Amino acid sequence: MRELVRPVVAGNWKMHKTISEARQLAAEIVSQAPALTMASIILIPPFTAIQEVKKTVGDSGILVGGQNLFWEEEGAFTGEISAHQLKEAGCDFVIIGHSERRQYFGETDETVSQKVLAARRHGLIPIVCVGENLEERKSGKTLKKIKVQLENSLFSLAEEEFKMVILAYEPIWAIGTGQNATPEQAEEVHGYIRQLIADRYSQDLSSCAIILYGGSVKPANSFSLIKEKDINGFLVGGASLSAESFLSIVKEANRVNEG
Ligand code: 13P
Repeated sequence: MRELVRPVVAGNWKMHKTISEARQLAAEIVSQAPALTMASIILIPPFTAIQEVKKTVGDSGILVGGQNLFWEEEGAFTGEISAHQLKEAGCDFVIIGHSERRQYFGETDETVSQKVLAARRHGLIPIVCVGENLEERKSGKTLKKIKVQLENSLFSLAEEEFKMVILAYEPIWAIGTGQNATPEQAEEVHGYIRQLIADRYSQDLSSCAIILYGGSVKPANSFSLIKEKDINGFLVGGASLSAESFLSIVKEANRVNEG
């Protein structure tokens, strides 16, 4: 995706923050972020706070996303939310297929695929998560898992649509554990994803693709990760819940653009 300034740093707030807490966090981020213009910042609050966060970021250039959606346009689907509803609430992005959704709410590559299509119908940019669990890593099945996830959830998209998707590599064993993938481990998978995209689509599309890393990203490890050539930014969980740590990550990520 060419038009989004890199690096891209997205904060997935998961099931944290009430409306007033979300307003406060977004306001702190907005007030301290103007100096950091060389990164794209995406805030991804819970559904209830999307509108408030959108209002708070105003025309600062900070972007807003949702954490999930359902693929139907509307109807009797209690508890679900549509792409159209997210869009009107102020989202331009939506996370799809996060490992927590796959683990606790039965999402599969097939549902991810349907959700991606629904997001695109409404002009939302999907941030599609892939990643292996610890057992898969230990038994050498990491790359195979990533390949299957991409093939089953994304590679049937037409090139024009695939162009509008952001990928996030989130090794499950690194999420919320404080144990991040090493830069080498992350780069191996990011490089592999880029190769798969080149094989399926084209070299040009592959080099434009935005591939984020997620899994225990902190201010202290973000520069060593972002230095890897195929890592274009981060999807941050825990460390996105405070303005200080989130903006430190943005600042560290931005160092790749300096000098
Ligand atoms: P942590 O940064 O808390 O490990 O979470 C990562 C994540 O799941 C982002 O979507």
